[in-house]
Amino acid sequence: MTLPGRYYTDPEIFRAEVERFYFDRWICAGRADAIPNPGDYFLRDVCGESVIVTRDQQGALQAFYNVCRHRGTRMCTAPQGVFAGRIRCPYHGWTYALDGSLVGAAHMDDASFRARDYPLHAVQVALWDGHIFLHLGRDPQPLESRLADLTEKFASWRMHELRLCKRMVYDVKANWKLIVLNYNECLHCPVLHPALNRLTDYLGADNEPPTPDYIGGAMGFRGGAETMSTDGIRRRAYLPGLSAHQRQMVCYYAIYPNLLLSLHPDYMMTHTLWPRAVDRTEIVCEWHFHPAEIAKPDFVADDAVEFWDLTNREDWHIAELAQAGISSRAYTPGPYSPRESLLRAFDEAISRD
Ligand code: FES
Ligand SMILES: [Fe+2]
Repeated sequence: MTLPGRYYTDPEIFRAEVERFYFDRWICAGRADAIPNPGDYFLRDVCGESVIVTRDQQGALQAFYNVCRHRGTRMCTAPQGVFAGRIRCPYHGWTYALDGSLVGAAHMDDASFRARDYPLHAVQVALWDGHIFLHLGRDPQPLESRLADLTEKFASWRMHELRLCKRMVYDVKANWKLIVLNYNECLHCPVLHPALNRLTDYLGADNEPPTPDYIGGAMGFRGGAETMSTDGIRRRAYLPGLSAHQRQMVCYYAIYPNLLLSLHPDYMMTHTLWPRAVDRTEIVCEWHFHPAEIAKPDFVADDAVEFWDLTNREDWHIAELAQAGISSRAYTPGPYSPRESLLRAFDEAISRD
């Protein structure tokens, strides 16, 4: 049966869920190619916590709470940009190096004051094949152990080589779990996505047994389609590392809690989910391509972008209708079909974790 309505409507359950599922797990923050050089940065709002993700002078990734150690002021407001070698608080000018150490604090003349006692509060950061992950909890397990066999499974897509071409941000009036649930079944595809349904067989998903850290599987093409695009035509070379078998499928994996990873024969699409309230989720969708393709004069991405933007909007609309219906006093949990077993596994992970 589906979860009781309070999992989608109760702000207190939402807070507790965010505590366990977002602040105590590795979450995907974006891509390393967004900040290639020392001082490049972006901000992420992780369920209300503003986090600065940057690179220090050595080029190492660093992440900090956006909180000054003097009187707590949020320091940085532009969503992305470049620090000129330092992070400076706009209130009294305390200044931090890109590794978070406090290097300038005017008027702190007290002999007992030691700058080394006041570095920025660090957030754990780790990298997987070009994806930046953050952990806001204490003593996290290494990221690799949470990713389990995924690092090996997806090595041939060489995700670290791919580069961002397009980003779209959606504000969806639905609980974040409804987005995950919707992503992990294609029973709705014939009804909701006529364009998508022409390219893949909605009953043809080859799902893996669910794990505590991810759920997903692959789908093959049909009708001569070679990728997910407006007409199924592939306008880019296959990603260079793929086997003949891997060229014939799309992998759809929900990596808990917030990364939906869609690997195509010729590009990668990522969704990251950012819960804003019990009934609101910001979704960042990005399309990443191989640089050798991007460099070609006839490179196009529109066919992939337009196709998935249409599909996204169909999905977000139905998720909003699901949120509205589940919020009704009349809602009671309904039965899952045997083909919705990944969803049941996700619900179990949510109510168990
Ligand atoms: S609060 Fe940041 S310098 Fe005072
Ligand atoms: Fe869908």
